Amino acid sequence: MIDLGCAALTAPEPWLTRAVQGALDELPPYAHTHGDYPAGLPALRQALADRYTARGIPTMPEQIMVTTGAMGAVAAICRLMAGRGERVAVESPSYANVLQLMREAGARLVPVAMADRLAGWDLPAWRQVLRDAAPRMAYVIADFHNPTGALAPEEQRRELVEAARAAGTLLVADETMSELALDPDVELPRPVCAFDPAGNAVITVGSASKSFWAGLRIGWVRAAPEVIRGLVAARAYADLGTPVLDQLAVTWLLNTGGWDASIAIRRDQTRENRDALVAAVRRHLPDWEFTVPRGGLTLWARTGGLSGSRIAEAGERLGVRVPSGPRFGVDGAFEGYVRLPFTVGGAVAEQAATRLAEAARMVASGATAAVETPRTYVA
Ligand SMILES: Cc1ncc(COP(=O)(O)O)c(C=O)c1O
Repeated sequence: MIDLGCAALTAPEPWLTRAVQGALDELPPYAHTHGDYPAGLPALRQALADRYTARGIPTMPEQIMVTTGAMGAVAAICRLMAGRGERVAVESPSYANVLQLMREAGARLVPVAMADRLAGWDLPAWRQVLRDAAPRMAYVIADFHNPTGALAPEEQRRELVEAARAAGTLLVADETMSELALDPDVELPRPVCAFDPAGNAVITVGSASKSFWAGLRIGWVRAAPEVIRGLVAARAYADLGTPVLDQLAVTWLLNTGGWDASIAIRRDQTRENRDALVAAVRRHLPDWEFTVPRGGLTLWARTGGLSGSRIAEAGERLGVRVPSGPRFGVDGAFEGYVRLPFTVGGAVAEQAATRLAEAARMVASGATAAVETPRTYVA
């Protein structure tokens, strides 16, 4: 099975091994504590705060909470701010697991279409939703959006923060993909929180999962200190804290330069994968349409008028696993799409495209009937 369900890469060695060794060296003093750090290890909060400050966003450690992945961050935010019946505006499409988490928290999702051709957000549509629906919260992925790969330009970020503030909507900016610019000439806009100098309109979510490795399960929140205090209380009854050893590994990476060195490896590897996948899909599925993203980990492909769910189901039988479009939509939208991640290259990308082309032929000839089982794991 070629599993294209997860948009996450293998560990960038030798950095994982070095980071774990570095973490073991730092562990002894922590072994004398109870080991529960619901806001995160002070050393990691400091290192993450310093990284924001170096990016031009002055940040104190009190503004950081370390979480169990970005998912842990969004879960705590939802628990505190977006419970049963609250309206939450989301991009359409958006990241499948966050949509599901919000649905299960009882939030009412208000979808806002992305602009065409990876041009970022449709600001007039956002203004209208913020004005008319006055959602409690809005969740956006400004940097190499999952699944489309769109990068919201700086001006849009400024305008969205202003519109959210005017509507009294809390803006949650998920930066999980932000370090995965693949083309060397991509100019990264300033982070969404840069347009919130008062610090009370935007909550930022970050993660080590795409920049480094998802197996460490380290994420974080950057917000005003009083929001962090509320989030720490809200996460405590979910998971109490995040493993100390994993936190020490990320601290080691940030403090030694290993983080940046491993990202450079990741970018090169992912760019090669992207180019191989795009070429293979163009060769084997010439009627599939997509815009090639300049960063991130995913290609959002329109499947030539065929059902993405049926292609996913046929693919499962032919040895290629892909998530279908509706997983990333609200109320069944995006039936004509699949998401393909840049996790394989070379001959495997070629083989994946060959199997998808065979799956598409099966669907076009009416040889499939069932739809994709909705429980297939997606990340
Ligand atoms: C936008 C976005 N947010 C959150 C996550 C989950 O991240 P984590 O592994 O840190 O929980 C992902 C993973 O694919 C993602 O793409």
